[in-house]
Amino acid sequence: MRKLIWIVLSFVSLAGNVRANGVQGKSRIEQGRWLVRIAGCNDCHTPNYSQLEGNVPEKDWLVGSEVGFKGPWGTSYATNLRLTVEQYTEAAFVSYLRQKRYLPPMPGFIFKHLTNEEIASVHAYIKQLGVAGKRTPRNLPPSQKPKGPYIYFVPQVDSK
Ligand code: HEC
Repeated sequence: MRKLIWIVLSFVSLAGNVRANGVQGKSRIEQGRWLVRIAGCNDCHTPNYSQLEGNVPEKDWLVGSEVGFKGPWGTSYATNLRLTVEQYTEAAFVSYLRQKRYLPPMPGFIFKHLTNEEIASVHAYIKQLGVAGKRTPRNLPPSQKPKGPYIYFVPQVDSK
């Protein structure tokens, strides 16, 4: 019985460690990096990140993409976050992220699941990467055609 309790306890502490390896007990910069990595921010905000299976040097992360996402909302571009963070203090970044209404496919709803401190650590992480890249093209309304490349983000069904 005593042995069983030990086994159960070690599993409990193992589960605790998994969480701790994620965000607790790390510097704010490390926490921010971890959140950016596992929340998939690079998938859209870093050029070719998915295609290269994440093998993009960190200095090139989050510089935004010139490939638009086109759908009923018009065309949206995953912004250069290295430039965005420069415009906000940590506190202002937290409220900006929380109140902004995002065009698809930006999953803005995930910020509900992060604390203010966690969002602030994302800011701190991106900020210390430094300014890089250029502004992404402006979003376009549905009536305007994008000049550059875009991904058509509308479900398709092939007819037989
Ligand atoms: C599926 C693609 C996708 C993913 C994943 C994604 N984004 Fe975005 N993001 C976008 C697009 C597209 C926009 C532009 C939306 C708009 O203009 O309304 C955007 C806009 C933003 C903006 C507003 C930038 C500005 O300058 O106004 C912030 C901040 C942002 N994303 C942060 C993040 C963070 C942090 C993550 C990871 C937790 C993330 N995004 C994940 C596609 C994505």
